[in-house]
Amino acid sequence: MQRPLIIALDFPSSIEVKEFLRHFDQQQLFVKVGMELFYQEGPSIITYLKEQGHSIFLDLKLHDIPNTVRSAMKGLAKLGVDIINVHAAGGTAMMQAAVEGLEEGTPAGKKRPLCIAVTQLTSTSEKVMKEEIWIEKKLADTVLHYASLAKKSGLDGVVCSSLEVPTIVEILGKDFITVTPGIRLATDAIGDQERVVSPETARNLGSTAIVVGRSITKANQPIQVYRQFISDWEGVTI
Ligand code: C5P
Repeated sequence: MQRPLIIALDFPSSIEVKEFLRHFDQQQLFVKVGMELFYQEGPSIITYLKEQGHSIFLDLKLHDIPNTVRSAMKGLAKLGVDIINVHAAGGTAMMQAAVEGLEEGTPAGKKRPLCIAVTQLTSTSEKVMKEEIWIEKKLADTVLHYASLAKKSGLDGVVCSSLEVPTIVEILGKDFITVTPGIRLATDAIGDQERVVSPETARNLGSTAIVVGRSITKANQPIQVYRQFISDWEGVTI
């Protein structure tokens, strides 16, 4: 996978998506469709985005019993997205079932979507992990443990904070992909994210891909902000 900047299309419906994409003219993007949009529009939004030539990360974060996840993935594989994900907290049997479902559902001759696991949400702090989720370990250790389980289960990578990437790469290797949200320019509002870094830092830390949402989608001039992110991420001047 090239090192993409993935724009999180966190919009309530396809109307806002189409308005937003108009800023980008015919440019082909890597976009993320999450639960807000998918639960409203269903598979038709994926068909639309694919017709426009965009690459797609379908961020539904599946987390259920293995049999249900296998069946759900079998159906989702037919949509032909590029990346899809589960919560690593679902365990190894569930993660293996996810990959099996994707393999079963991918049409003959097509590539199965990459399957990655959410380790800990980038909105979760160590304090919340300890006091609310009752995980007594260090956040960084938990992330690494979940990432190791994901690799053992046959997944292609993880969603994590860029801050965790160097350890994951060191232990699990460079081919295990790291998709990292929680990205902000120095001038941006942090919002509900806890662990944020700049695109340049994400690059230096070795992220495979960055996910950027509100900083671009809520900007007055999305294309300008997008270009700024791209230049920071790719290390080129615009
Ligand atoms: O607006 P912002 O840049 O914070 O958007 C980040 C996107 O990445 C959101 O769509 C969010 O659901 C997603 N995400 C995340 N942390 C994870 C996994 C996904 O922020 N661990």
